[in-house]
Amino acid sequence: MPLIDHALKLERFPKDPNLQAWDAADQYLLRYLDENQLLKPDTRILTLNESFGALSVALANYQPAMTSDSYLSCRALLHNLNLNKISADQVSFYDSLSMPKYDIDLIVIKIPKSLALLEHQLYQLRSLIKKKTTVIAAGMSRHIHNSTLALFEKIIGFTKTTLAWKKSRLILLERDFDNNKGQSPYPDEFVVDIGQDFTISNHASVFSRDRLDVGTRLLLENMPASDQYHDIVDLGCGNGLLGIIAALVNSQARSHFVDESYMAVDSAKTNFKSAFGGGRRAEFSVSNCLTDFESDSVDLVLNNPPFHQQHNVGDAIAWQMFVDARRVLRKGGELIVVGNRHLAYHAKLKKIFGNSQQIASNGKFVVLQSIKK
Ligand SMILES: C[S@@+](CC[C@H](N)C(=O)[O-])C[C@H]1O[C@@H](n2cnc3c(N)ncnc32)[C@H](O)[C@@H]1O
Repeated sequence: MPLIDHALKLERFPKDPNLQAWDAADQYLLRYLDENQLLKPDTRILTLNESFGALSVALANYQPAMTSDSYLSCRALLHNLNLNKISADQVSFYDSLSMPKYDIDLIVIKIPKSLALLEHQLYQLRSLIKKKTTVIAAGMSRHIHNSTLALFEKIIGFTKTTLAWKKSRLILLERDFDNNKGQSPYPDEFVVDIGQDFTISNHASVFSRDRLDVGTRLLLENMPASDQYHDIVDLGCGNGLLGIIAALVNSQARSHFVDESYMAVDSAKTNFKSAFGGGRRAEFSVSNCLTDFESDSVDLVLNNPPFHQQHNVGDAIAWQMFVDARRVLRKGGELIVVGNRHLAYHAKLKKIFGNSQQIASNGKFVVLQSIKK
């Protein structure tokens, strides 16, 4: 049994040499599987919500399946398989909109940040859990709340929590086969009134899934319109509302929607279609920031940057988004950013673009504009 910190090389994606790519819950889980002899040569394994693929790489001999809503996690898995000279074919990747169709012997659930995503996944897992399936959830104790345990009990059945080890815990789950009540409430919808009513559909993990975010609203109220815009990008699109309203007020522009979450991009697609029917074309990509865009190719980038990657808070992704935006904008093109005032994005934008202008604000949020000179 490989112990993650000794036997394997693991890195984050995007790379961050200061932070490790596994946690104590991964180690605890591997140790538990070993001590309880839960792995046989033909054990079929499914992991959910791994951040960097540490477990799938450690268990690669068993040809596991890994499912995640995150494109960055998928890239991390491929990177770490490669680092350890393991063929990419050893692990099957399923995005969060799909699940394996075959019987699984061992299901490992890393506790995700979004309780709604966990709820959706548990309903999906019900049909995969058979009498002989072992189901274990793993996470750092600070991420396991009463509400997390209540969800396991409501949807799956009986739970037993292990003692803490290095501030992590395992939750051993047993399916109550008499309980088939309920089904996933996702995707769900809310209505936004911005001049006209829009019904916005959201998959479980989408940012601000149940209401319009205050920052997003401020940017919507200050949406720029110009017949100079040929290509508009909604970067980190979530449910796509920013890009949809931009498309509405810039009726000649092409729209591009990008997010690293599979559920976000799928929701944006649904919402764009319900706003415009088949009458407008748009491109949708699951990607890391603007990696796949050519330099000097767009006129307007709209961005409400993320302030965390899974459970980790930080501004590295925001920084990457601003740098990418400058590269892909044509000369004279604009980046419009909304953010919490205390995040001080204006300083970063000034460093990257040489200019940053505040175009709107309320008590908490600011909308900033930077122009590529
Ligand atoms: C604060 S939310 C904004 C969502 C939406 N634009 C809104 O205003 O409601 C940030 C979005 O960035 C996405 N994101 C995070 N990291 C990303 C990356 N590396 N590349 C692309 N999108 C990313 C998240 O999935 C999330 O949907």
